[in-house]
Parts: sequence; structure tokens; C-alpha cells
Amino acid sequence: MPQKILVTGGAGYIGSHTVIELAQEGYEPVIIDNFSNSNPEVIGRLEQILGRPVKCYTGNVEDRQRLREIFEEEKDISGAIHFAAYKAVGESVEKPLAYYNVNLGSTLSLLEVMLEFGAGDLVFSSSCTVYGEPDHLPVTEESPRKPAESPYGNTKQMCEDFIRDTVTGRAPLKGISLRYFNPVGAHPSALIGELPLGVPANLVPFITQTAAGIRKELTVFGSDYNTADGSCIRDYIHVVDLARAHVSALEYLEKQPEEPFYDIFNVGVGRGYTVLEVINAFEKVTGNKLNYSIGDRRTGDIEKIYADTTKSEQVLGWHAKLTLEDALKDAWQWQQTLKNE
Ligand code: WQD
Repeated sequence: MPQKILVTGGAGYIGSHTVIELAQEGYEPVIIDNFSNSNPEVIGRLEQILGRPVKCYTGNVEDRQRLREIFEEEKDISGAIHFAAYKAVGESVEKPLAYYNVNLGSTLSLLEVMLEFGAGDLVFSSSCTVYGEPDHLPVTEESPRKPAESPYGNTKQMCEDFIRDTVTGRAPLKGISLRYFNPVGAHPSALIGELPLGVPANLVPFITQTAAGIRKELTVFGSDYNTADGSCIRDYIHVVDLARAHVSALEYLEKQPEEPFYDIFNVGVGRGYTVLEVINAFEKVTGNKLNYSIGDRRTGDIEKIYADTTKSEQVLGWHAKLTLEDALKDAWQWQQTLKNE
């Protein structure tokens, strides 16, 4: 019988790509999503890619009763991957209570119900944002966490601690926090990808929407940073590689002895690119000249960060295989699919 894994937020950007990789690796993903930041049509797209039905329950993860109904209905859920959360840094500053209620509430609810039903394997969607502006690069998992610069970042740190402390309390839980760097790109089928609501906050969807004529011009937020060309440095990881890291993390948890366990892994490519390098790569890959201008720095942006991925490689046996160019090509193909819909 394939291992049944609850994927919270499984209709979302990273969640949907992870559902594909889980199913293709022989797992049975079961989605719960409230579609507050995702489109129900994604489920049909997943079934199209997989050629088989994908179970999806509508609901809020912070609703313990709804979670219990699903665990009772599905009987043998053995673990969960927890994506469901609000994730816009800027919005979290304006709506901190919404972020604390949903991001913290969903994690506490999931932990409690998993333990009630004996589902012991949890992979949590964390973020490199917990490192703040690192003192040394590349960042390792031992690099200190910095005080969060946003309620969003704070919820990631607090949820990591919820899982760590549950394990320290000897509950029968095995947990991993995956600290994502910058997820970019889309599935090569161009059937699923990023679906930003409104004006994209993130770089790559803004680039593809500018190239598609949806946005007039991209603004590069600052060119006076202490980097080769003055623009910020990030570690951009193809969303399919990121999805595969979740499967590797789950397989690693299943191999651990049945006792409380917690660990943390960086999931990035292990090198940084400046904003201007990303723009140049996009122009090269697509043959599109991008309309952009240099603007002021964006409040809250850190100057540079990229991952040391040694631990993920040596312990999980995972490393990124796809390039920034692959991600930009897939993102552009996805954007063009959207435009034709
Ligand atoms: C990348 C770089 C911008 C838009 C955030 C969250 C992180 C994760 C990913 C959820 C920066 C520059 C951007 C634009 C620009 N979110 N930029 N013009 O801020 O590194 O990370 O999103 O998990 O937790 O912190 O990603 O894509 O917004 O920005 O110049 O129109 O692109 O200044 O240097 P970020 P981003």
C-alpha cells in the first residue's frame, strides 16, 4: 500500500509541484487546501500530469475538527508536508494577526491531530528568511537565526520551534524543517506554476509578466548594494528541485528509528545571482529584451544570501539538478500558457 501523505496547501505553488513528485515516487498524496491563495483548477491539472485522480479536501488546516474528519476518512495517513500558510512578507506587516492566526494556528492544529492519529512524519515548509542578513556566506544550518524582520519571518521561526519542542517533549514525532531559498520556475509541462494574486511581489513572476506585457516595466530595487553590479544577491532554486527535496526528506524520516527526531536542512542551489544577472539570463534564455529601470531599495530587503547545501547533499542525498536558466525558461513557458487561457 503506498504511504498516504497529507499535503496541506497542496494546491499552492510549491505544494502542487510536490504532489507531482510524491505521486511519481509512489506515495499517495492527499491535499487539504482552502484555496485562499490557490486555484481549484490546479487539482485537474495535477490529475492531467499524473494520469490519475488526486484526492483533495477543502478546508482550513487550523480547523482541528476538519483535520480530524480527514484523518478519520483516510484511515492510514502516515505523515504530512505542511505548506499551508500566508507567505507575503509585506502583507504580514500590515496584517500580523492574520499571519499569526493562520501560520501558527495551522501548525499547532496539524501537530496535535497528527499525534492523535499516530501520523509521525512531518516535513515543514520553512524559509531562509530565518537567517535575516547573514554574517557569513554561504549560510549553513548552524548559522544563527536573526530576529525576524517581519511577522511572516517570525511565524517561520516560531513554527520551527513548535516542532522542535514537540520532539524535545518526547512526543512520537519525527520532523524536518526545510529552509527554502528563493523558489522560481514552473513544471516543464507548463500545466502548473506560480499564480501570484494581483501585482507580484516576487522577482521572477514580475519579470515574466513584464515580458508578457501585463506589467509595463520591472523596477530593480536598488543598485547601490555591496555586490558585483550593485543589485541584491539571492539563491534561486527551481521549484521542481525544491519539490524533490520534500520527497528526499520524507524518505529520510521513514528510515529513522521510531523515536522523536528533529532536524533542519537548507534547500537552495548553493550559489547566488544578482537581480541584474537574473534579468540578463531571462533575456538570453527567452530572446526577450526586458523593459526595466533601476529604482530605490525595497524596505526590508537583505543584501545577499545563498545556501551552503552540504548537509542536504550528505544527509538527504539531495542536490539541485536544474539551473536558473531551466527555471526561467519554464517560468516563461508557464506565463505564455496563462496568457493563452
Ligand atoms: C528577490 C530579489 C528584490 C521584485 C521573499 C521572501 C521569502 C520567500 C521568497 C516565501 C530581491 C528583487 C523583486 C521586483 C526587484 N517567500 N526584486 N524587483 O524578497 O528574496 O524573498 O520571497 O516563502 O521568504 O522573503 O524574494 O522575489 O521578492 O526578491 O528588484 O519587482 O529581487 O529586491 O533582491 P525575496 P523576491
